[in-house]
Amino acid sequence: MSQTVKSHVTRRQFCRAAAAISSVGAVSGGLLALAETQPTVINTTGPDSLRSHAAPHGLLFGGAVNPALLDVDGAANGTTTDPYTLLFAAQANILVAENSMKWGALRPAPDKFDFTQGDRLIRFAGLNGQRVRGHNLCWHESNPAWLKATANKDNARQLLTEHIQTVAGHFRGKLHSWDVVNEAINPPDGLPDGLRKTMWLDLIGPDYLELAFRTAAAADPQAKLTYNDYDIEQDTPKQIAKRDAVMALLRRFKAKGVPIHAVGVQSHLDATAPPAGKGLQEFIREAAKMGLEVFVTEMDVNTHAVVGGAEAQDAAVAVVFRDYLRLVLAEPNVPIVLTWGLDDAHSWLSQAHGNQSRRPDGTRERPLPFDDDLKPTPAFLALREAIDTAHRSAGGNSKL
Ligand code: G3I
Repeated sequence: MSQTVKSHVTRRQFCRAAAAISSVGAVSGGLLALAETQPTVINTTGPDSLRSHAAPHGLLFGGAVNPALLDVDGAANGTTTDPYTLLFAAQANILVAENSMKWGALRPAPDKFDFTQGDRLIRFAGLNGQRVRGHNLCWHESNPAWLKATANKDNARQLLTEHIQTVAGHFRGKLHSWDVVNEAINPPDGLPDGLRKTMWLDLIGPDYLELAFRTAAAADPQAKLTYNDYDIEQDTPKQIAKRDAVMALLRRFKAKGVPIHAVGVQSHLDATAPPAGKGLQEFIREAAKMGLEVFVTEMDVNTHAVVGGAEAQDAAVAVVFRDYLRLVLAEPNVPIVLTWGLDDAHSWLSQAHGNQSRRPDGTRERPLPFDDDLKPTPAFLALREAIDTAHRSAGGNSKL
């Protein structure tokens, strides 16, 4: 699909943001030096896109998308001028549906599966040479009301199995990977192994996790099966406890021969929280020893507590993108980075059901590499620069 939209950030805009980063003491000259070497207008498409920078490193880069907003027909006949559609075509070589493949979206009624949006996404990705992740097959949220009303200890096992067989079966051979189980660990619930108190745990027991993975493997043997969770990035006591419980789960899976290929580190980060560090690095290396890949599945950087306007927020977000991705992309078993949306306007943090009100000044969050107008923010360059420094050789991962 041809790229007809030229989106760009000016060197002046970026220098101002980089200078703001310096003023909060968080930059060692890197971003400022980068800014100074940029041309007056910084192109973001074609060879300058995130996907083009990722490819030589054997990396996949992408974002969460709402398939209903994509102009798939226009993309198919090369006539689309829709900025959201062009942005995803230009920047991503992997896509994930933000909501369309969850139970709540796929299962309007017990006997009805609605694959309309998932199929649209697969078609769009095919047009653009992009891979697709499935999100997700088993979660405690976004389940249809009828499920909660009808599931019980007698039928829950069958309900989960049939859902995974049908959904993973429908997309069989078309997906790069599936988030098979999402967010099953929550140590504060006080249950054995740090398991989260969920409907599935209540009705099936701890066995539900293994059941989900084994069923998914049978339904789609080609998809990389992933366990996906959040708040396991930082070295705070709470996140260390959760990360340890996730690692213990992965070890139990491996010991029992449960088919699992990757762990998703969601990476919903906070611009004012301490940076991720050694604990996450060790977690990624432990996963590597177990033969597991680590996917950055849902990265964004909230600016709830950043004092100042757009420039201060952009500076803080850019630093987190740069430092976090430099840390994780140094590890050879991290082949994928996805952000949770590509632009601020469509971020869950900007939606009515998100945490929009958490900024004391009432202004919107700026958590992603493109802003409300789909213009690149300094995070775009920070992200691209981190991708460029990834220690991976071209074509290094034959499974990509
Ligand atoms: O589609 C309905 C719409 O008809 C209705 O008018 C509107 C009213 O609020 O709600 C719409 O549904 C919302 C849906 O997003 C689509 O916008 C749901 O209420 C809302 O709960 C849902 O939120 C999603 C959330 O997961 C729960 O599924 C967010 O968009 C999505 O970003 C968020 O994503 C999660 C990942 O799946 C897992 N990791 C954390 C991440 C962020 O919370």
